[in-house]
Amino acid sequence: MRAFCNLALATLLSSGLVFASPAATDTDTDRKVAALLAKMTLEEKAGQLTQYASPKEQLAREGRVGSFLNVVGADKVNALQKVAVEQSRLGVPLIFAYDVIHGYRTIFPIPLAEACSWDPDLAEQTAAVAAKEATAAGIRWTFAPMVDIARDSRWGRIAEGSGEDPFLGAAFARARVRGFQGASLKEPTSVVACAKHYAAYGAAEAGRDYNTVDISVKTLREVYLPPFKAAVDAGVGTLMSAFNDLNGTPASANRFTLTEVLRNEWGFRGFVVSDWRAIAELMVHGIAATPAQAAERALHAGVDMDMEGSIYLQNLPQLVREGKIPESALDEAVRRILRIKFALGLFEHPYADPDREKSALLANEHRQLAREAARKSIVLLKNDQNLLPLSKAVNSVAVIGPLADSRSDLLGCWPGQGHAEDVVSMLEGLKGKIGPEKIHFAKGCNIQGNDDSGFADAVKLAQESDVAIVVLGESAGMSGEAASRVFLGLPGVQEDLLKAVHATGKPIILVLMNGRPLTIPWAAQHVPAILETWQLGVEAGNAIADTLFGDCNPGGKLTTSFPRSVGQVPIYYGHKNTGRPPSDTDKYTSRYLDSSHTPLFPFGFGLSYSQFEYRNLKLSADKMRCDGSIKVSADVTNVSLREGDEIVQLYIRGLVASTTRPVKELKGFQRISLRPGQTRTVEFTLAAQDLGCYDENLKYVVEPGPFKVWVAPNSVSGLEAGFELVDK
Ligand code: NOJ
Repeated sequence: MRAFCNLALATLLSSGLVFASPAATDTDTDRKVAALLAKMTLEEKAGQLTQYASPKEQLAREGRVGSFLNVVGADKVNALQKVAVEQSRLGVPLIFAYDVIHGYRTIFPIPLAEACSWDPDLAEQTAAVAAKEATAAGIRWTFAPMVDIARDSRWGRIAEGSGEDPFLGAAFARARVRGFQGASLKEPTSVVACAKHYAAYGAAEAGRDYNTVDISVKTLREVYLPPFKAAVDAGVGTLMSAFNDLNGTPASANRFTLTEVLRNEWGFRGFVVSDWRAIAELMVHGIAATPAQAAERALHAGVDMDMEGSIYLQNLPQLVREGKIPESALDEAVRRILRIKFALGLFEHPYADPDREKSALLANEHRQLAREAARKSIVLLKNDQNLLPLSKAVNSVAVIGPLADSRSDLLGCWPGQGHAEDVVSMLEGLKGKIGPEKIHFAKGCNIQGNDDSGFADAVKLAQESDVAIVVLGESAGMSGEAASRVFLGLPGVQEDLLKAVHATGKPIILVLMNGRPLTIPWAAQHVPAILETWQLGVEAGNAIADTLFGDCNPGGKLTTSFPRSVGQVPIYYGHKNTGRPPSDTDKYTSRYLDSSHTPLFPFGFGLSYSQFEYRNLKLSADKMRCDGSIKVSADVTNVSLREGDEIVQLYIRGLVASTTRPVKELKGFQRISLRPGQTRTVEFTLAAQDLGCYDENLKYVVEPGPFKVWVAPNSVSGLEAGFELVDK
């Protein structure tokens, strides 16, 4: 019989701070909720479970709607709220929701970019600012954070999450929940967060949005659920049930994930909203023949609110009357929603303050934070011969490419209430940095399409300049929802433009702006310097100019692997070893005939203008008890003449277990700043309870056995040691 350490399930998969849930048991609130519920008709109850996307005054008056999304602005919100509070029978306030994903008016880097900062505190701050602005406009509920793990860059929604790794994803989930919800939901600047899309939406087959997900429960629990669990532990008030089919039961009718795991195992007391008409779509999935059946299945599974569907409103009262749904089930869903409304203080303070709206949006300090976030999100992918940073004494810079002068594309896939004119374009940022007279622009081509008539001007400009900065990538609309792609190279004729400029022999820097990893093997081989800037928001141009000219030393690292070609997708560092790991010399191994199996740029990778050395890997013990922990440390030295940030990463590998384990698992990270010559000992605590996995019976187990550990600058290198996990 195999040995394993016994650990209480409750301690598992949760690490870091555990916040009190905003909807935690509060007898006073529960009493108020019960009193209100006792007065409600079935129609009013179904109303609380209903959310619409456009203002519907009459329904608000009749108490037949509980929430609106996409109604924003203090005046509009207040007008509708007034109807609910002052003209409806019970005066239950509405809760106004919006997709505040990476900012409300001050737009921050897209979440995938921000994750590349490996700085959850930063994400907490940007979420807090987003909440401050959104609440000023009457929004008390955001459909964020998006915590879907994504390992397939064809899927456009990879832009909205933190990347491929559950540990990192959990850290950002916690941080963003804290940032949005603040210390208390009662604060007028807090919004209730919504962890989405529950669950495993990111595993869509072939990276095609809304597509089927069929994965093992082991993979579900080990890879896709941890960020949701982290959000729940951080006190997230709501979750959104996803569109996708999950192992044969659509996520919005999945009692296993929505009730057994979420409520019974994790103790979640908030409420679940369906994604947009996802309850109605149960009929399209083919698991309900009628709207009534769809309503029944969704409610039974644990979906409390119907987004823009009318299915609950039109069917639940009748279903209760027919005895098909117990009224207690309806009551429970209403209770969960009312608890959040009470937690937000909506009953005492239902209205937004229009004066605050005027001063809060795009405040100076918000822009400053946006610049900091943008600077920290940039990843330097290549820098041969230290081409970067450029000297400000340069005489003439050719800025080439369809994104160099764009503003709207830098807002990314969820621009909220961001305005294109708020954005500092790259061209503007560069002009501001070294003077407009030195900067010359040629668009060269469009983002998409075959028109190469601008190439000649671009090439001529490069020839006449000291250096060429070529700004290429995707438009904002090419990632995000319903934006899957099968071609992941630079769209249109952009790569041809790059080749033409490269052929001039001028020093050339590629600045990428994109919402997903791109396949850029030619550029990676031929262009000496590449800066991945994603879509950085309103301060993009300043942050990029800061970085190109050395006022900012890039320190971001990738949180998603860059494939060489689409054929490698899905690609991620934490894969299994297989029985035949890839070998360059043995054909009958898990490899490709026509490509390396490795990524073009691996997870955790990113350069700096500084150089860092790792030495002295130390373990506090070479044995760890199953209920114990060890400390792992290494010295990291800045061996360059420039101050810089390094993201130090801790990985483990369980070498022998009862089920297979990934070849590497991230278990810790720290972003540190080091002055020239400075050394810091970076220490991590590795606890046995975090080293487990799910066994054949789908029980979380911490199994004794040999482990490897790395303290590393990325997922493919670093200092390595080993330890043994022992029973006693
Ligand atoms: C559909 C998207 O999947 C979801 O992320 C979003 O929150 C809702 N629409 C509301 O806009």
